[in-house]
Amino acid sequence: IHKGHGVKGLSEKGLKSLPKQFHQPLEERFSEKRILDHVSIPLIDMSKWESPEVAKSICDAAENWGFFQIVNHGVPLEVLERVKEATHRFFALPAEEKRKYSKENSPINNVRYGSSFVPHVERALEWKDFLSLFYVSEEETSAFWPPVCKDEMLEYMRSSEVLIKRLMDVLVKGLNVKRIDEIREPMLLGSRRVNLNYYPMCPNPELTVGVGRHSDISTFTILLQDDIGGLHVRKDNGTDWIHVAPISGSLIINIGDALQIMSNGRYKSIEHCVIANGSQNRISVPLFVNPKPEAILCPFPEVLANGEKPLYKPVLCADYSRHFYTKAHDGKKTIDFAK
Ligand code: SIN
Ligand code: FE2
Repeated sequence: IHKGHGVKGLSEKGLKSLPKQFHQPLEERFSEKRILDHVSIPLIDMSKWESPEVAKSICDAAENWGFFQIVNHGVPLEVLERVKEATHRFFALPAEEKRKYSKENSPINNVRYGSSFVPHVERALEWKDFLSLFYVSEEETSAFWPPVCKDEMLEYMRSSEVLIKRLMDVLVKGLNVKRIDEIREPMLLGSRRVNLNYYPMCPNPELTVGVGRHSDISTFTILLQDDIGGLHVRKDNGTDWIHVAPISGSLIINIGDALQIMSNGRYKSIEHCVIANGSQNRISVPLFVNPKPEAILCPFPEVLANGEKPLYKPVLCADYSRHFYTKAHDGKKTIDFAK
């Protein structure tokens, strides 16, 4: 895409019109979506995270919405500010610097700079650049992360651990799983991926998307966004969409496919997408809490204890994610792989 300058490079050339390869089929455009402006996803105050009411509102949100925002989550707001600054710093690097991390140039696949999602298989490209960082532990995975953002991203990984454990604890208790033992831990949260997303201003935003419809494959995702907005969540699997309005200091939590599978469909991994913006650049930073690649995804025995039929068959997490990353965004089709 524009000789390695990314979509940002294209945007900064001051194009008058959107290049053809970004023109999305009509059915994917936002002009075809109905956006409910009087509805929003639940907002949960986590300051009393140990109280049964908060636990209930988290589990209810996971069941009925698949998406919620949290405030007083315990991740210091300065850390979040530094993550956003680091994201801007990375994308402000000269193209030659960013290109070092592209698929063609980087021998290391735990750091990857690119544009769109999987460009060589997409019918139409998405209007976004990203840097994706894979994480198992600081020592094992961060050595090749870009120096302009490495410390800030590692600080974020460290400061989000408590929140991740708390959320996981509450969510599994809602499934009658008593505790997260040594077998469950890697199955639920054995690895992380953090993406730095940059959505440049777009000359014809109505013809394209920032990100196409998809559901995350994670156990759950913690999303940090700036104050521009643009993320939309599908309502009840129907034709209506809800905008996730930015709330300063908040984080967005969404259930991913892995937890939908493990909960045998009780918790919902919901389709979402991002609109392109005609006048402003936007950033977002999803932190994907993932099973270990070696983990087997399947419904927990506890959720099947009442005689419920398993909706999913066991699949290796690495196979599931390979399946996701070798096709274009296609709504919620990835989960069929486990049916
Ligand atoms: C994504 O879900 O891929 C990105 C979400 C966002 O940028 O808000
Ligand atoms: Fe997503």
